[in-house]
Amino acid sequence: MSAPEQRQRRYWDALAQTDPDAAIIDPNDRRGLKNAYLAGLRDRAFAQSLARHDVERGTVLDLGCGTASASHPLLRAGHRVLGLDISLQLLRHARNRCGDRDCLFAAVDGRHLPVAASVMDAAVVYVVLSYVTDDAAALALLEEVRATLKPGAPLIMIEQARARRALCEDGLKVHRSIREWTQLLRQAGFRLADTAILRHGRFPTTPLVAVGAIPRAAWPWLARCEAGVARLTGVFGWDYAEVRFEATA
Ligand SMILES: C[S@@+](CC[C@H](N)C(=O)[O-])C[C@H]1O[C@@H](n2cnc3c(N)ncnc32)[C@H](O)[C@@H]1O
Repeated sequence: MSAPEQRQRRYWDALAQTDPDAAIIDPNDRRGLKNAYLAGLRDRAFAQSLARHDVERGTVLDLGCGTASASHPLLRAGHRVLGLDISLQLLRHARNRCGDRDCLFAAVDGRHLPVAASVMDAAVVYVVLSYVTDDAAALALLEEVRATLKPGAPLIMIEQARARRALCEDGLKVHRSIREWTQLLRQAGFRLADTAILRHGRFPTTPLVAVGAIPRAAWPWLARCEAGVARLTGVFGWDYAEVRFEATA
């Protein structure tokens, strides 16, 4: 394992000491409401995209599954899940959360996926390749993901993007532009089906969600609002956005 992957493993293993939901989204979200809101938004996006691609009760690769926060709702929806992650400590939470029924969790070196070719019905990725700052490494990983997918199977990837590429979190993470993300997908041999901005990173209602000022019943409506605003504005120059890419192998 090379130095960048070792650094990632150390970083995520240390975060695994906190709450399993906080560890993989925002460790500073004291009440857990913001993390629950963002996880719900992610899960709805995955479910809608999988349905659009007619993936029902499929075998789904969750790359960078972390604590299985996204794998768990996929299992509940009847899919089988293979969750792969660089952090052994996060994977402990994944196993506790999901048990071993219809799922398998395994540690990877951050570059290679120990999966046979053309076996997966779909792959999901939530804010993982943003942590692979080297483009050649991110491309190689996407190529590995494509190889695991059956021909025509979808990759649903939600990553963070900025108008202009920027390194953040002390060089641990990169915000690529939407153009750079789509180029990587195409270079990896994917056919791009759809791209949508789901939300702006610092949308003004997010702090209100975090303090409990917006009831849970209103969250789906708020998520639709965020997506609507993002559709109109595109990525702001001063903020990152969460972007959902649908592509097929
Ligand atoms: C922001 S968390 C998201 C976790 C999960 N996808 C979710 O939706 O809850 C990023 C995850 O990517 C994992 N990760 C980072 N680099 C990786 C790599 N090269 N290969 C596999 N996993 C990686 C981290 O360990 C962490 O679990």
